[in-house]
Amino acid sequence: MAIIEVSDLSKRYGELEVLKRITFDVHQHDVVAVIGPSGSGKSTMLRSLVHLEQIDGGTIRVDGDDLAKDGRYSAPRKIKQITSKMGMVFQHFNLFPHLTVQQNLELAPKMVKGEPTTDVRRRSGELLEKVGLSGRASVYPAKLSGGQKQRVAIARALMMNPQILLFDEPTSALDPELTGEVLQVMKRLAEEHTTMIVVTHEMGFAKEVASRVLFMDNGQIIESGPPEELFTNPRFDRTKAFLSHSLK
Ligand SMILES: Nc1ncnc2c1ncn2[C@@H]1O[C@H](COP(=O)(O)OP(=O)(O)OP(=O)(O)O)[C@@H](O)[C@H]1O
Ligand SMILES: [Mg+2]
Repeated sequence: MAIIEVSDLSKRYGELEVLKRITFDVHQHDVVAVIGPSGSGKSTMLRSLVHLEQIDGGTIRVDGDDLAKDGRYSAPRKIKQITSKMGMVFQHFNLFPHLTVQQNLELAPKMVKGEPTTDVRRRSGELLEKVGLSGRASVYPAKLSGGQKQRVAIARALMMNPQILLFDEPTSALDPELTGEVLQVMKRLAEEHTTMIVVTHEMGFAKEVASRVLFMDNGQIIESGPPEELFTNPRFDRTKAFLSHSLK
C-alpha cells in the first residue's frame, strides 16, 4: 500500500520553478534514497511533505488522507494530524540546546501527545539504547559529538512513533569518521522495515540500503528504480553524468 502519494507537486520561488510537477509514491517498508545535484529541489520536496514549505500545485496524500490537494494544504488541524505520522531528521540536528538528551526526547510526547511520564521515560530509555547512547541521557547536546547529536535526533524522531521517517542529508554536517555510526543506525532501522525517505549524498548507503532510488535534477524526478538498476544501468544521460561525478 502506498503510504505517501505525491502527484504533480509544483513549487516556485518567484520566477524560479523549484519543483516541476513531481510525481512519486512511497510504499510501506520502502527505503527511498533521493539523490541529485545541489539545488535540484531535494530538500524542498522533502520539506513540502511535512508542511515546512508552501506549494503552488499538486496533491500530497499520506496514509490515504489529503495533506494538500490541488496546490493547497488542508486545514491546520488535519495538517497536524497527518504530519504527526512523519518524523523528520535534519542535516543540522536541530536539538534544543537548553534541554538534556532525555528532555529533548521526551518533550514532544509529553507536550504534544500528553503521554504519561512513565511510558515516555521507558521509551526514551529504550530508544537511547537503540542508538547506542544509553549513558548520555542527562547530558546537554553541546557535550556530544556531531554523530551522537544526530543519533539523538533520530531517537527523538522515533519517540513519536512515526509511520515514516524523513532524513535530509543526515550525515552531510559530520566529519567522515562520524558518518558511519549514523548510517549504521539508519541501516538497522531499514532492516527493521522502517519506512524512510533519505535525501543523501552517500551513494554507498543508497546502493546498499535503499529499496528504490529517485534521481532529481532541476526540479524534476528524472528517473527512479531499484539501486542495482539505477546505479549500473541508468537510462538518462543526466543520471549517467551525475553518477559518474558522484561515484568517483
Ligand atoms: N527560501 C528560498 N528562497 C528562494 N530560493 C530558494 C529558497 N530555498 C531554496 N531555494 C532555491 O530552490 C532550489 C532548490 O533548493 P533545494 O534546497 O530544495 O535544493 P537541494 O536539492 O536540497 O540542494 P542541496 O543538495 O544543496 O541541499 C535552489 O535553486 C535554491 O536556490
Ligand atoms: Mg538540500
